[in-house]
Amino acid sequence: METTTIEALLQEQRVFPPSEEFVRQANVSDPSIYEEASRDYEAFWAKCAEILDWYERWHTVLEWNPPYAKWFIGGKLNACYNCVDRHVKTWRRNKAALIWEGEPGEERVLTYGDLHREVQKFANVLKSLGVRKGDRVCIYMPMVPEVVIAMLACARIGAPHSVVFGGFSAESLTDRINDAQAKLLITADGGWRRGNIVPLKRNADDALRNAPSIEKVIVFQRIGGDYMVPMQEGRDLWWHELMANAPLTCEPEPMDSEDLLYLLYTSGSTGKPKGIMHTTGGYLVGVAITTKWVFDIKDEDIYWCTADVGWVTGHSYIVYGPLAIGATALMYEGAPDYPDRDRFWAIVEKYRVNILYTAPTAIRAFMKWGEQYPQRHDLSSLRLLGTVGEPINPEAWMWYHEHIGGGRCPIVDTWWQTETGMILITPLPGITATKPGSATKPFPGVFPDILDEQGNPTPPGRGGYLVLTRPWPAMTRGLYGDPERFQQIYWSKYPGIYFTGDGAKRDEDGYFWLLGRVDDVINVAGHRLSTMEIESALVDHPAVAEAAVIGKHHEIKGQAVAAFVIIKEGYRADEQLREELKQHVAAKIGAIARPDDVIFTADLPKTRSGKIMRRLLRDIAEGRALGDTTTLADPAVVQALKEKYEGQEE
Ligand code: WTA
Repeated sequence: METTTIEALLQEQRVFPPSEEFVRQANVSDPSIYEEASRDYEAFWAKCAEILDWYERWHTVLEWNPPYAKWFIGGKLNACYNCVDRHVKTWRRNKAALIWEGEPGEERVLTYGDLHREVQKFANVLKSLGVRKGDRVCIYMPMVPEVVIAMLACARIGAPHSVVFGGFSAESLTDRINDAQAKLLITADGGWRRGNIVPLKRNADDALRNAPSIEKVIVFQRIGGDYMVPMQEGRDLWWHELMANAPLTCEPEPMDSEDLLYLLYTSGSTGKPKGIMHTTGGYLVGVAITTKWVFDIKDEDIYWCTADVGWVTGHSYIVYGPLAIGATALMYEGAPDYPDRDRFWAIVEKYRVNILYTAPTAIRAFMKWGEQYPQRHDLSSLRLLGTVGEPINPEAWMWYHEHIGGGRCPIVDTWWQTETGMILITPLPGITATKPGSATKPFPGVFPDILDEQGNPTPPGRGGYLVLTRPWPAMTRGLYGDPERFQQIYWSKYPGIYFTGDGAKRDEDGYFWLLGRVDDVINVAGHRLSTMEIESALVDHPAVAEAAVIGKHHEIKGQAVAAFVIIKEGYRADEQLREELKQHVAAKIGAIARPDDVIFTADLPKTRSGKIMRRLLRDIAEGRALGDTTTLADPAVVQALKEKYEGQEE
């Protein structure tokens, strides 16, 4: 982020304390909770762990051998039992667990009782196909209730799931299946997106050509009708056929607190996606307590998180957190602008949504579309708003506050990561006075700091690296099959301290202001992408000799992909090739990684040691004066490139 923006941020003077009315009804409103948690964070987290049902209580709260933490050691529990069975034993049996709206407009409601039945049946299906405790199951599904059923059924039998976002390409799916050595794949014939069919089964078939660990494929029929997908004899099985004969009961498997609950792949600084591991006890405690306190969910509420289940936000705050506390979660399958730009507001009005959790990129798009869309609908049911995924600019925050929240809803700007599993920096809406653009304060029992290059805490107002100095229950237990990389990426900059990869500042009041990534990860419309992964996709094209990718500031998406490309002798740098390269990246990784700009160049700015200076490429792409070029091997390269870029833009 540019310095000017940072300074503007820190001059933000507006403060929004929670209303008395909100405080009175809040799940947590006593500020002494912060002090209590800092005094003895192990005792605090042990108290939080009471939010779950345990078959056996832990004997030790925490064992901390950086970079590895173990929480609630000796504890036995089952995540599915906590998300489903225990509610069925109460009046919640007939409470809606999931309310689903399909993009074409279908509606389904699954009560906790329904979920209990479906999950048990599907767990039996998994068992009948040979899935055992510890086997990895890959899930590549649209946003339908069956994705939740599949995840919970895996958790029930102790088979870690690895959900792959439905927008990822076949090749991305192959990589993730192979890394996890998944035994079974659960997919669907397709899903709906802006009126088009996302061909999930077709992608899965392509992916499976190079993924020999998969023995069986379960296909949920989402589209049906005339939409036919080939089924491979002996490998592919229909969800509905398997479910028709599945026995109704399946006991949950008692799991150890530290048993793997799931893997979720995310992009890092290096080309290869990382399999983030989350275990059962600590993760579930962390997501359950944050869901209850940050979103202030009550039994009567309808809570809607607009993320896709394929990202960590969906895992923690559509599935595990809300269901663990017996909430009603809404799921919507499709796009916010289909059939029109008021779809979200139509859904809020129709179901009387009380709590809405979405991303700044969506808010900026709504802002651009104009307030006439929310104005068409009665949004008076809303009581709390949340954001996640990237820094929210104060203008977007204010727009959300006024045009969606009607000026009355607290906004919780929640900072966290796939690796952190749970929200770590956030307001507590019944306690914290919010400031537009700040994620405010650490959640109780969480210890972030901002360090300079030497590892000293920065004074207020000075930017630095955001770190966490103590463990928290939902922290990742590492990268699947790659302990060295785990150590190197997160724990080598400051020994014993978790390095987030984000820049941040604190103000005089101790509020945290997130400043974006400091590594080669970019954040495009709230989706985390690795510049190196996109570069690898580009050089995989026969015309490309070398490529450098950066995130360029974008009004709505936050960042957009810009690729600087050197092409090989014999190819023509023309519009056709440019389109072909964009398409190539989309096909290799997924549409989210498609570059907005492809800039052909004869050379790239490099240091004398041969490292591409991405900072200068960002300056060029964002039209800024060039920064320091003295370390460049050949300063003329960057000047020429700048002129060329400016020429291409016109
Ligand atoms: C960014 C998403 C500022 C950050 C839950 C982080 C944020 C990355 C915020 C993780 C926020 C997430 N304010 N930045 N409220 N929330 N980020 O793993 O750069 O997809 O490191 O997890 O998103 O992205 P991930």
